[in-house]
Amino acid sequence: MSIAKPLIKPEFKILRPNNEKEVIDLYNSLSSESIYYRFRGFFKDFEKYVRSVFSDSRNIVYGAYVDGKLVGVLEAVYLSDGCYEMAIAVRDNYQGKGIGTRLVAYAINDLRRRGAKTLIAYTTPDNYRILAISRKFHGVIKCMYDECTTIFNLQAINVDQFLN
Ligand SMILES: CC(C)(COP(=O)(O)OP(=O)(O)OC[C@H]1O[C@@H](n2cnc3c(N)ncnc32)[C@H](O)[C@@H]1OP(=O)(O)O)[C@@H](O)C(=O)NCCC(=O)NCCS
Repeated sequence: MSIAKPLIKPEFKILRPNNEKEVIDLYNSLSSESIYYRFRGFFKDFEKYVRSVFSDSRNIVYGAYVDGKLVGVLEAVYLSDGCYEMAIAVRDNYQGKGIGTRLVAYAINDLRRRGAKTLIAYTTPDNYRILAISRKFHGVIKCMYDECTTIFNLQAINVDQFLN
């Protein structure tokens, strides 16, 4: 007997400064483990962080909603022309259901449409979930000591299979 993974189909949208509170609530809901993986430390000043992301209009924030609730957020932080740094978090009780994969696909699709060429993600070598997702999108992963850097060539990725 095979055990099928329950697949949730979230709705996606680009978040604006008026969504700040929802994003802060999501970060406040995370377990210590998720906070550690997301911020690579026990960071807590989510309000300041979220405000700073929204304060630069070159940054793009993507949200995944299930039944009207924000369950996943991905920030594409502008680094230079055509190049962004990605960071993502999914609420703990929604993890492992395919939402992170789909949110990354949605963000990559949108960034490609905007003409972006490179997306970079930083993580730790024990973050199996984000590394599994990175491989799905053919990210080039290089790990040294306690940090892994993944580089996605946006123009070479086809995300269609993850969006349907
Ligand atoms: C990383 C994160 C965003 C992924 O979102 P998610 O919705 O849980 O991810 P998905 O369900 O789409 O996919 C997770 C993948 O990891 C794989 N995975 C999970 N545990 C694993 C393990 N121990 N070893 C190998 N792969 C593992 C899953 O099998 C799945 O891949 P599959 O669909 O091919 O089976 C989410 O877990 C999260 O918010 N973590 C805390 C914050 C964080 O780590 N952010 C990333 C750094 S910025």
